Amino acid sequence: MLEDRNIVLVGFMGTGKTSVGKALAKKLKRCLVDVDRRIEEKEKRMIREIFEKEGEPYFRKLEAEVIREVCRQRGVVITTGGGAVLDPANVAALRESGILVCLSARPETIFKRVKNSEKRPLLPTGDKLAQIKKLLDAREPFYEMADHRIQTDEQSPEETAACIIGFLGSAGT
Ligand code: S3P
Repeated sequence: MLEDRNIVLVGFMGTGKTSVGKALAKKLKRCLVDVDRRIEEKEKRMIREIFEKEGEPYFRKLEAEVIREVCRQRGVVITTGGGAVLDPANVAALRESGILVCLSARPETIFKRVKNSEKRPLLPTGDKLAQIKKLLDAREPFYEMADHRIQTDEQSPEETAACIIGFLGSAGT
């Protein structure tokens, strides 16, 4: 595994990016850089409030800026928000900085993981499972662009992290 390449976790909400990112960073003794947390630190408010008060385009602009910044770092684990890959310029910057690993899960698993979360502005109240299915379908082509893909439904974050280390190691990346 090349030490200076970042490992970038992408994927839909609730696929485990944050918990797998933490486990991966711990196992590899790398720093963890979470794009959404950086945005919240910069703005001194929660993502949900940014969406509510300023709207999604404002959030996407911030997200793109923060991605540019974090991509200057090397040898870290980067976790991104579920919509980060919608902007091809984000994907290009992330890919240039490292290797893109997409975490996936079935809509039902995602629903179980996020149904009580109040942090997800893109899943308002109502039929959340239907909203998840629709968004997942629309985003599938973007997640397909990742270098590797891993299903997290039946695995703990530690198991998924170990799997990622396994295939990155054997791929010589
Ligand atoms: C979003 C996912 C969220 C956060 C924002 C937008 C998305 O991150 O970036 O609410 O567009 O899917 P998580 O994937 O960590 O929930």
